[in-house]
Amino acid sequence: MERLHKVLAAAGVASRRKAEALILQGKVRVNGQVVSILGTQVDPAVDKISVEGKPVVPTERKSYFLLHKPAGYVTTLDDPQGRPKVTDLLTGVKHRVYPIGRLDYATEGLLLLTNDGDLAYRLTHPKYGVVKTYQALVLGIPDATALNTLRSGVRLEDGLTAPAEVRLINSKQGSALLELKIHEGRNRQVRRMCDAIGYPVQRLRRTGFGGLTLNGVPVGSFRTLSPAEVAALREQGGTQ
Ligand code: URA
Repeated sequence: MERLHKVLAAAGVASRRKAEALILQGKVRVNGQVVSILGTQVDPAVDKISVEGKPVVPTERKSYFLLHKPAGYVTTLDDPQGRPKVTDLLTGVKHRVYPIGRLDYATEGLLLLTNDGDLAYRLTHPKYGVVKTYQALVLGIPDATALNTLRSGVRLEDGLTAPAEVRLINSKQGSALLELKIHEGRNRQVRRMCDAIGYPVQRLRRTGFGGLTLNGVPVGSFRTLSPAEVAALREQGGTQ
């Protein structure tokens, strides 16, 4: 529920003060009834609001969430197989939001969700190349040559990958943990890059997206982005 004058202002009817005046003047109706009491609470998604007889179309407030996706969830919102969806984890979130980009069913890690279609589009557009950081546990221990191939570009069926930052974090018992920073966002890119050089991924986690990290967000939990974080993302998505 939100205060009526705020809903009117958010819908672009008038400033908050002017909206209060319209309410006091008896010019505002909610579900057909004149409401002239300030502070009246309405649900913009349900209540029919009009000003001087003209319906008010409420603008949906923009929401931004950072989710620590567990493995075993799909990022698509309609999965034909009916598997668990990432949005199932957003308990208490009433807005309809959708993921910015994708993570595979088996991939864990940082996933942003929003109802801001413009920002979502920009952040996934190859032109802007937002940096995504992944930790990949691979089978086998890549040598310097293999790591350099990942860095300079791997030939995949959809072309050569762009330069990436890659480092070996550690290795034990025939597996290695790699960190990869990539700018592209092709389908299953990290898995395909590692496969192509002969080191299949056993576990994949996205740890960073455009300067954001998973710090303080346990697996399966989410938090709201701050206005400063949203502004920083917007800057990375270009202004035009
Ligand atoms: N690369 C992949 O292979 N999978 C993901 O989920 C993300 C990047």
